[in-house]
Amino acid sequence: MRTIAEASGASLRPHVKTHKCRELLHIQQEVGGAGPAIVVSTLREAEFFADAGIVDDIILGVPLDMCKLGRSLDVARRVRSFGLLIDSAEVLESLENALDLPSQCAAVSSLISPLQLWLEIDTGYHRCGIDVTTDLAPAVKLVQAIVHSGCKHIAFAGLYAHSGHSYNCCPSARDPGAARAAAASIAGFEGDRAAALASELKMLGVVVPCVSLGATPSVSSGAMWPRAALGGTRLELHPGNYTLYDRQQV
Ligand SMILES: Cc1ncc(COP(=O)(O)O)c(C=O)c1O
Repeated sequence: MRTIAEASGASLRPHVKTHKCRELLHIQQEVGGAGPAIVVSTLREAEFFADAGIVDDIILGVPLDMCKLGRSLDVARRVRSFGLLIDSAEVLESLENALDLPSQCAAVSSLISPLQLWLEIDTGYHRCGIDVTTDLAPAVKLVQAIVHSGCKHIAFAGLYAHSGHSYNCCPSARDPGAARAAAASIAGFEGDRAAALASELKMLGVVVPCVSLGATPSVSSGAMWPRAALGGTRLELHPGNYTLYDRQQV
């Protein structure tokens, strides 16, 4: 993954749900090309790694549960950057309203930086995210709502996509070449749609700081990621399972 990320001009933000282990993340950072930025799949993982002292940038890689906003803000006070995935105007609005409540005043005033909101885009997995497979307009509208929000405790961090459906493209265990080609095509589509959205947003004057992409099969497929099409926007890859490989990968 380090080699792939380097060749793609991308930084590596590993998803740590597979190992949930400080020591393994440390090895990833020492020799695996990972930096101090990770994705987690639960708030408990976020709390653990916020206290582990080896990361300063965490994305919670599941939709925000507003009932756990207090715990999320606790994590956000302990790391330089805490990211949340947003895929609907309703969630954005409830987050803005909750952050502006007088009862949250103390919690938000001690944030190290505003909550980093990533627009989660759906490029074919259909688990969550705003669908960008054919139409970019709803995604553009939601990014504009984030960027023009009156809430000063949030900021637009970039676009986030996860092609979990790349696990399903193994037509025959005896034909790994075909599986790799299918995963590469999923990765290519993910990269193209993210780059198209980033470029549309740039034309509208919206700065897209980063595009974060990938899953273990799609990143391992040898796909080309859209470095050139992204211009000044940073590219990250966020595979996770590759650290230990669970049975899904088999
Ligand atoms: C939102 C999100 N991003 C990234 C990943 C990492 O994907 P993988 O473990 O397949 O490499 C996952 C895995 O579940 C995920 O849910």
